[in-house]
Amino acid sequence: MPALSKKLERALNEQITHELESAYVYLAMCAYFEAQNLRGMAHWMRLQAQEEVGHAMKIFDFINDRNGRVELGAIEKPPVEFKSPLDAFQKALAHEQKITGLINKLYDLADDEDDYPTEVMLQWFIDEQVEEEKSAGEVVEQLKLIGTQGAGLLILDKHLGERKSED
Ligand code: FEO
Repeated sequence: MPALSKKLERALNEQITHELESAYVYLAMCAYFEAQNLRGMAHWMRLQAQEEVGHAMKIFDFINDRNGRVELGAIEKPPVEFKSPLDAFQKALAHEQKITGLINKLYDLADDEDDYPTEVMLQWFIDEQVEEEKSAGEVVEQLKLIGTQGAGLLILDKHLGERKSED
């Protein structure tokens, strides 16, 4: 099997950093929800952060399997405060939309290079991004219906607290 090109290796390494950055953003959101006493939403974000580490590790392992060299990049400081639960979930959705764009660009690059194993590996991420945008988007829509106060928020918080880990 041909080696990973340097260009693709660099792009995959950048994606590891983006996935770890995602974990960091969701951990910041988890801390915000903990401070708001919305423990269910905090739990949801904690699991989301853990999933993102899993995504980073999938690419980490893939680069190693292809005899490439993993190189980790710097991660930006995430926000501390959010205006509301809706603001946090809207930012989570926008973040996922950005990640979808990055995955699509990576796929285009693998396709240009006829690197079939990378294309197959990235197909998992393409499917996953559909789920990621759907799950954050659903919470955004529910929060819009509920508004930011009242019993509805507590019911949604309880529901999101029931999220199970995927592994
Ligand atoms: Fe790893 Fe949420 O995208």
